[in-house]
Parts: sequence; C-alpha cells; structure tokens
Amino acid sequence: AAMGKEEVLRQELGSLHGIPLFEAFIEAWPQVKAFQARPDDLVIATYPKSGTTWVSEILDMIYHNGDVEKCQRDAIFNRVPFLEMKIPDKPSGVELLEKTPSPRLVKTHLPVQLLPTSFWDKGCKVIYVARNPKDVIISYYYFYQMAKLHPDPGTLDEFLQTFMAGKTAYGSWYEHVQGWWEKKQVKQLLYLFYEDMKKDPQREIQKILRFLGKEVAEEVLERILHHTSFQEMKKNPAANYETIPTALMDHNFSPFLRKGIAGDWKNHFTVAQNERFDRHYQKHMAGSDLHFQIEA
Ligand code: A3P
Repeated sequence: AAMGKEEVLRQELGSLHGIPLFEAFIEAWPQVKAFQARPDDLVIATYPKSGTTWVSEILDMIYHNGDVEKCQRDAIFNRVPFLEMKIPDKPSGVELLEKTPSPRLVKTHLPVQLLPTSFWDKGCKVIYVARNPKDVIISYYYFYQMAKLHPDPGTLDEFLQTFMAGKTAYGSWYEHVQGWWEKKQVKQLLYLFYEDMKKDPQREIQKILRFLGKEVAEEVLERILHHTSFQEMKKNPAANYETIPTALMDHNFSPFLRKGIAGDWKNHFTVAQNERFDRHYQKHMAGSDLHFQIEA
C-alpha cells in the first residue's frame, strides 16, 4: 500500500540493493529503474550535502545564458527534478521529469551502480560533485534534523557512528565517491570538488562550460558567478528551499543554505571524534588516488 504523508516522517530507512534509503523512494524504484533518458539529459550526481543545489543553479544559469529572471521561474527542485524522489501526494521525480522539456537537468544521489542504465545507453553527460567527508557529516547532521524525511540522527557522536558505518541515507560515502571516481575515465563524466568551487568558482564554471561545449560572454559569466554565490542563493526563494512546508523542512531549526564554507567541521568535531574519523578515513581510502582537501 502507498504510504501516507505522516508515515514518511522520521521513519527508519529501508534498503535498496543494500543502500539505505527512504521507504517511499524504494516503493517507487521500479519507475526509476525503467527511466527513459534522452540523449541531451545532463545528470547532476552527488552524495547528499556535497553542493548539489549550488551546481544545479550554476547549470540552470548556463542553460539560460545568465538570465536571472528565467532562473526564478520556479523552485530549484522543479527546475532540476530529483530523479528518485517520491513523497506521498506529490508528483514523483520521474513524473516531473516526464513533463520537463529538453534539455533536462536531472538531480540524483544514486551511487554509480544504481544509475538507471538508460543514461549510459543514451550517452548522457554526468557532472559529479564530491565534498570532503567531515563537512558532509556536519552538513548532513543539520540536514537530518531540519528535513524530517530522515530518521532522528541522535547526537553528533551517534550520527558520526551511523555515517562511518555507511548507514546514513545513500549509504557509504566512501563507496559513493570512489564508485563515481572509477567512472571518471568515461569522457562524458566531469568530476568536481566542492572545495575547488569555493576556492575558484570562476575556474570551475569554466570547466563546466568546456565540458558542455558552451561559451558565454564575459558579463554572462560575471552574472552567473554573482547569482550563484552563497549570499545570493541564500536569499533567493527559488534556490533556498524555503517554499517547502515546515512540516517537511524546518528552516527555523537550520536553513537549507546553512553556512556554505569549507572547514566548518572544525567548529564541531572534538579531538577524539576527529582522530577516530581520521583512522577510519585512512583505512577506507588506502590505495585510492582520490584525494580530498580536508584542511581548509
Ligand atoms: P552547509 O550545510 O555546510 O552550509 P546539497 O545541495 O548537496 O544538499 O548541499 C548543501 C550544502 O551546500 C550546504 O552546506 C549549503 O550551504 C551548501 N551550498 C549551497 N549553495 C552554496 C553556494 N552557492 N556556495 C557555497 N555553498 C553552498
């Protein structure tokens, strides 16, 4: 039976092919798996809290040649539909996408092995954004508290354990970032880092433009940079999720655009937590040529 509205709040996660995920998303999985991509779809893939909304706004601005008004035509979650999203009494991500004219921007948090095969068959481009895990943990901890689709995260220490055990929604961060990294030799995949975007957003936007084979005028690039800055996005109702009802997202507890910096983990991790995490990280990243800028 389909789930009712209240039933999705603060429920324990289910499992989709071994990946912890919301039960309502799992129920709707058959439609996601069978999704029919179009060759000009562009996929934005991330582990949650890694800069999805930021790169989505950048891409919508590029697609609309820096026209701010056009990019305020609707909320970000309608302009860039969330592929596997399903909550009761709302159109699913797949339903939204079916009504979206091409060229579509598609958001997903799926690990690489679960991306519907149609995207690969059609040769769609994919932009992956990764963020250092310590900031992901802190951002995710606040997000778990404000977005009530998630189970109760408990204390930060408990949440850290959950994250290290790969039991947060979308599972192991290590497997997610490494799984997508192993695909980077595929020419239609661009792998970006949140920390690089913070350090030099202009360079990263130019990377995206090259990847898309697009060029924009100097003043358009300036406008994109300005409009997609943290300060501008934070006050933009079309980008900051404030139109989502409080019952689902409590912005009074913590806004969706919370801090937008690299290194906020330093304000939250205890020395002991940091050492515990470092040991875990070294073990799980050993032998990988994927490196993160953790010291901001
Ligand atoms: P913080 O919680 O650390 O502030 P996602 O969109 O993947 O859910 O990621 C959300 C994180 O990206 C939040 O991190 C949010 O503030 C940050 N973010 C969103 N827009 C940003 C921007 N324009 N510049 C920097 N960070 C941004």
